Amino acid sequence: MPSEPGISRIPKAELHVHIEGTLEPEMVFDLAARNQVPLAYDSVDELRARYRFTDLQSFLDIYYANMAVLRTERDFADLASAYLTRAAAQGVRHAEIFFDPQAHTRRGVPIATVINGLSAAVRDAAPETSAELILCFLRDESAESAMETLRAAEPHLDQIIGVGLDSAEVGYPPAGFTEVFRQAAKLGLRTVAHAGEEGPPEYVRQALDELGVHRIDHGIRALEDAELVRRLRIEQIPLTVCPLSNVRLGGFPDLAAHTLPRLLDEGLLVTINSDDPAYFGGYVGDNFAAIHEQLAIPEARLYELATNSIRASFLPHERQRRLL
Ligand code: HPA
Ligand code: ZN
Repeated sequence: MPSEPGISRIPKAELHVHIEGTLEPEMVFDLAARNQVPLAYDSVDELRARYRFTDLQSFLDIYYANMAVLRTERDFADLASAYLTRAAAQGVRHAEIFFDPQAHTRRGVPIATVINGLSAAVRDAAPETSAELILCFLRDESAESAMETLRAAEPHLDQIIGVGLDSAEVGYPPAGFTEVFRQAAKLGLRTVAHAGEEGPPEYVRQALDELGVHRIDHGIRALEDAELVRRLRIEQIPLTVCPLSNVRLGGFPDLAAHTLPRLLDEGLLVTINSDDPAYFGGYVGDNFAAIHEQLAIPEARLYELATNSIRASFLPHERQRRLL
């Protein structure tokens, strides 16, 4: 489903993309060869054939497994450069990119390798596309591990703009990470968290009240709680919605069943994003094209969604104004 040229021309920000989720099957093979990492698959097609997910965990299993090929600073730089090139071609003028340091440090890759590699790509990106990095804590690891990760990142604070919370959601409520988010905010970092993807509306509330986040990643299950919807509307808390991801991970049977139109009708500050584009069938422009074609979101609304993404970004107001 190629992103239409018209849609690619709309200036937009991408606020919810996991850099490890942009690792295309071809790059898995290239990096495996470069780093002599054995793979359990014989071909790109065989790997891609495994991308049939039933829920978040079935995706995470293969997402973490594929990361074994990422070993050097150059690998992380190549990964982020490839994403930034693709995103720029789909009209992304600014990206706030998640990365999962614990998924690398726990297999022996130093955090400095990850951050320095990603930062090199961000620095070298085409001048019309800016990018920032958001360090995500894995919520299925302990709060102590999150705190150790934040400490390990302290020498690199000038290379990251914020922290987030991702990985398996149900059974891992945001409130467990209150202390590390408080510490991150004290260090001057912005905060976001995945909540209400598979987890209940209560997790969205905890992310707001306990973690004090500026944005909610996904948040689609907030619709089950009218009081929470009212709050999200009044406070205009941005939701970084990922339509193709939600369908691929079984949240909806197909895109036509997605509740994006309801989120918009409720007056919420919604943005459109790709999440893990190498796994879910498309980059951010493809997500825009899909909601236009399969959810009948009119063109004027696409412009509004793109404008929302710039407003919901952590860009200084001056640069936001230049992009709008
Ligand atoms: N949800 C939670 N954690 C993740 C995701 C996601 O969609 N992608 C990568 N890590
Ligand atoms: Zn995500």
